Amino acid sequence: MEYFLSVHHCFSAIVVLLIFFQQTNANLMHSNNLGRLQTNSCDFFQGSWIFDNTYPLYDSSKCPFVEHEFNCQKNGRPDNLYLKYRWKPTGCDLPRFNGLDFLKRFTGKTIMFVGDSLSLNQWLSLTCLLHNAVPTANYTRIRGDPLSIFTIPDYNISIKLLRNVYLVDVVGEKIGRILKLDSILGGKAWKDADTLIFNTWHWWNRRGVGQPWDYIQEGTKLYKDINRVVAFEKALITWAKWIDENIDPTKTKVFFQGISPSHYNGIEWDKPSVKNCLIEKQPVNGTIYPGGPPPALSVLKNVLKTIWKPVYLLDVTTLSQLRKDGHPSIYGLGGRTGMDCSHWCLAGVPDTWNQLLYNALLY
Ligand SMILES: *[C@@H]1O[C@H](CO)[C@@H](O)[C@H](O)[C@H]1NC(C)=O
Ligand SMILES: *[C@@H]1O[C@H](CO)[C@@H](O)[C@H](O)[C@H]1NC(C)=O
Ligand SMILES: *[C@@H]1O[C@H](CO)[C@@H](O)[C@H](O)[C@H]1NC(C)=O
Repeated sequence: MEYFLSVHHCFSAIVVLLIFFQQTNANLMHSNNLGRLQTNSCDFFQGSWIFDNTYPLYDSSKCPFVEHEFNCQKNGRPDNLYLKYRWKPTGCDLPRFNGLDFLKRFTGKTIMFVGDSLSLNQWLSLTCLLHNAVPTANYTRIRGDPLSIFTIPDYNISIKLLRNVYLVDVVGEKIGRILKLDSILGGKAWKDADTLIFNTWHWWNRRGVGQPWDYIQEGTKLYKDINRVVAFEKALITWAKWIDENIDPTKTKVFFQGISPSHYNGIEWDKPSVKNCLIEKQPVNGTIYPGGPPPALSVLKNVLKTIWKPVYLLDVTTLSQLRKDGHPSIYGLGGRTGMDCSHWCLAGVPDTWNQLLYNALLY
């Protein structure tokens, strides 16, 4: 009996060790893969834009979902070279977006974007790409606030958009609206999706009338304001904890849409006198953006490294930085009196984000 017990213990110890090594291994792989989808050592997120006459992936005039603020051609943008670029990773090709394959693979699934208007940009792009693949199939579409839902019943697929600009909560209380850096009750609405794609950043810099909160709260401390990059980091840490506590990786794949860049400062692309994207008709040539990465990106990457559960960074920052030509400028929301160098024309750059998402989901 004693002999049996010790053998049993020894066996248990080996099992425990095996599990430990497996987990260590999985974690190592996970940190190595962070933001780096590798196929035959090719990094999908490093490369350059090349002219390709088979682009765009759909005709925006045939996609009924493109909203006014992104509908550059319809709003009179005279040039169209910006539609004709394909993202070419250095050392490999990114497989083309295949809408029919996407629909077949994700039959019965729910894909949910959570974030601000950059999430809207990507959601609209994906619904156009899928509709374009099966233009005669029925679809349903609810465009709501905060929740929008697009479905193609033949494939029982549901592509949702949940507007939530900070991911953490903004709560109305007696003294005013409070941005709560360590509260994330909004997460309740995310749990049932099979794929989640998060994004937050642009609203962290809002001030004045566009700022939808009066105080920032952390723990029991209330502030009139704090450094916005620090606030962003604290909120991401709250979000990261939510992921570790709530996500079952066998059921749900989690993505973070990287920081989408704006183009209001020509110094970044070697045109110091330029203050917006209006005259830009071509991407930056080559693989390097002179302005380098925005500080928010390293904050994001450092927080993602602390998450135990697998989260894939759709690292779209550099490839989008190169696309100073991809924004609506005066062919967007404000028209001639506006200057939108933050969002992206559709068809356009977010189609490539979805092409990367598609490829990430294949592996
Ligand atoms: C659609 O997918 C959901 C989730 O997988 C499933 O519960 C439901 O039965 C499916 N509906 C049809 C009509 O196949
Ligand atoms: C689309 O829906 C309508 C009404 O529900 C139905 O009559 C029609 O057959 C459907 N078409 C396809 C292609 O499924
Ligand atoms: C872009 O750069 C490549 C090499 O880096 C060069 O061969 C090509 O001529 C450049 N194109 C333009 C339009 O400047």
